[in-house]
Amino acid sequence: MVTAYDATFAHLVDEAGAEMILVGDSLGMVIQGHDSTLPVTMEHMVYHTQAVVRGSRRAFIVGDLPFMSYQASVEDAVRNGGRLLAEGGCQAVKLEGGVRMVPAVEAMVGAGIPVMGHLGLTPQSVNVFGGFRVQARSNGARERLLEDAKALEAAGCFGIVLETIPMELAREVTQALQIPTIGIGAGAACDGQVLVCYDYLGLFEDFQPRFVKRFANLAEAVRSATGAYVKEVKARTFPTEDHSFD
Ligand code: KIV
Repeated sequence: MVTAYDATFAHLVDEAGAEMILVGDSLGMVIQGHDSTLPVTMEHMVYHTQAVVRGSRRAFIVGDLPFMSYQASVEDAVRNGGRLLAEGGCQAVKLEGGVRMVPAVEAMVGAGIPVMGHLGLTPQSVNVFGGFRVQARSNGARERLLEDAKALEAAGCFGIVLETIPMELAREVTQALQIPTIGIGAGAACDGQVLVCYDYLGLFEDFQPRFVKRFANLAEAVRSATGAYVKEVKARTFPTEDHSFD
C-alpha cells in the first residue's frame, strides 16, 4: 500500500503494482505545506480522492477521513464516510482511533461503507501525544492498543494500519487478528506495509521519519531537471527552431 494524491502519481503507482492506494490526509503536510494533518477538510479529501480514482485502473483505493469529519458523532461518520465513497469514488475509508470509534465503525459498515482502522501514532491526535513519537511503549498502553485492535475487528473493520509502535506489539496484534495489519514504522511482522509516496520517493525533505527508506531521490531529480531547463531558456538553446510550430 502506498499513498497518492493526484491522477499522475496514482497512474504510476498502480502500474508499478501497488495493490492499495491510500489517499492519505498526509496531503495536508506533503501537498498543502501544513505542519500537521489537522487543517485538511472533507472538500480537500473528496477532490484528491476523485483525482486518484481517475488515475488508477486496478488498485483498491482507500480515502482518509479528515480530522473532525467523524469524531463528533456517529451521524457525521456515516455521512462523511458515505460522501467519500459516493463523491470521491474510493472503495473504502480510513479513520483513526480504537474502542471509542466502535459505534461509528459499526454504523458505517452497516451502511455499506468498508472501514479501515488506524492505531498507534494517529497523526490527528498529535496535540494529545505532544509530537510525532513512538506510541504504546508502556505495558498499559500496549494492552490498550491490543484491545483497540480487537474491538475494531469485532466492529467490522477490514484491516488496520499500525503506525510507529514497537515491532513486538505489531507482531502480537497481527497474530491476534484475522484481518490484515498494514504497518508503517511498526516493523516487518505486519501483513502488509504502507509508506507516504513523497517519503519513499525522496520528494519531501522537511523531515524524514527514521523508518522511511528512500527508494529514489526525486527531489534532486526535480531540482536538476528544472535547473537545466532554466539554464537552457536563459541561454536560448531551448526551444530550438526545429520545435516551433510556425
Ligand atoms: O495519511 C496518511 O498518509 C496515513 C499513512 C501514514 C498511513 O495515514
